[in-house]
Amino acid sequence: MEPGGKARRTSSPVTRELPIAHDIQMPGYTITISPGILESAGMLIHAATHGHRYAIVSDLAVAGRFGNQLLESFPPGEAHLFTFYGGESVKTRETWARLTDEMAEVGLGRDSVVVSLGGGIATDLAGFVAATFMRGVPVAHVPTSLLAMIDASIGGKAGVDIPAGKNLVGAFHQPSAVILDPLCLLSLPAAELRAGMAEVLKHGAILDAPFFERTVAAMPTLIGPEGAASVEMLEIIRRAVAIKCDVVRRDEREAGVRHVLNFGHTIGHALELVSHFAVPHGEAVAIGMVIEGRIAEALGLAEADTADRIARALDGAGLPTTRPDHLDVESIMNATRLDKKSRAGAVRYALPTRIGAMAAGDGSWSLPVPDALVREVLGRS
Ligand SMILES: NC(=O)c1ccc[n+]([C@@H]2O[C@H](COP(=O)([O-])OP(=O)(O)OC[C@H]3O[C@@H](n4cnc5c(N)ncnc54)[C@H](O)[C@@H]3O)[C@@H](O)[C@H]2O)c1
Ligand SMILES: [Zn+2]
Repeated sequence: MEPGGKARRTSSPVTRELPIAHDIQMPGYTITISPGILESAGMLIHAATHGHRYAIVSDLAVAGRFGNQLLESFPPGEAHLFTFYGGESVKTRETWARLTDEMAEVGLGRDSVVVSLGGGIATDLAGFVAATFMRGVPVAHVPTSLLAMIDASIGGKAGVDIPAGKNLVGAFHQPSAVILDPLCLLSLPAAELRAGMAEVLKHGAILDAPFFERTVAAMPTLIGPEGAASVEMLEIIRRAVAIKCDVVRRDEREAGVRHVLNFGHTIGHALELVSHFAVPHGEAVAIGMVIEGRIAEALGLAEADTADRIARALDGAGLPTTRPDHLDVESIMNATRLDKKSRAGAVRYALPTRIGAMAAGDGSWSLPVPDALVREVLGRS
């Protein structure tokens, strides 16, 4: 398919109404968004990377569902499938070691390309494998969860978790192509779709108030039975991807404005860690956004009602908005200190000033917040 050209039609109602592929150009790669594009993914990835062999990295559930279709979109014999058991608990150096060993065993070399197929676990693991295998080979992403489509597949952050915290070992490794087929969402479990909605709402909350409101209004359709194949879903994916791209383009290495994407994540990551990942990422970020919104209000930074508006929006998506009772305040406080944004001992937060705008701080787009204030807000959240 030509960039910006016509998407292949399928029998889906979405593709009949929206015949055009929506490409977003990033420095060095194209994000192709089109219902039904999965069957052409191999061709597009080959055109972007000119690889000779392709290592598809996918969790077992997603591989079982889409693995063959993706394999068959490459010329026969060129692509190999490498799988792992799903879940945050396998985003580890051990899984990275096994995948790279298996790739070496089948003789993949420097002319290989790694292709992630799946959610954010697959993109993060595959990206880190690609960043390190043979000192670095290209990676392409074929995200299948909403969270991976609008967040994890864009921007080049890759890595694994270690006992001390999430994503603490990793690399920046920009993809060579991102192929995004919204129809993959048709099989995504409802809880995972809601988790992705937390990040969609985050994108609106940090940069685009009208988009935030549009998403809130469309939420019943988006999370309804036909939501995954709806025109509304295609539109919110396009806008959410465009927002992430806009931020990453301005600050690829997270030296400044990219910090705004971490809204909700300082508390969110702490909740994941303290719960031993029993609280999934999307839910942790949902609760984290409300608590960090309250922190911003308590500091006098954010307009009154900012946190409540975020909470109402998340509630409409069926997401939690309060700290689970069994996760105690002190453990969460301790976990926030492992955050990568902490500098010189002070934990820093990316904080809103209102829906659609974030505090620039000293230009780092993150601010130190006294422990006492965080403790007080956590205690009543
Ligand atoms: N690199 C980044 O910039 C970035 C950004 C945001 C999140 N992340 C990371 O992403 C991870 C979370 O990603 P996630 O929520 O996608 O988790 P995930 O990869 O575990 O996917 C969620 C679940 O959905 C299943 N699944 C995915 N697509 C499916 C489909 N189409 N049909 C049926 N089942 C499907 C998976 O098998 C899995 O069980 C976290 O580790 C987070 O740190 C990274
Ligand atoms: Zn996130």
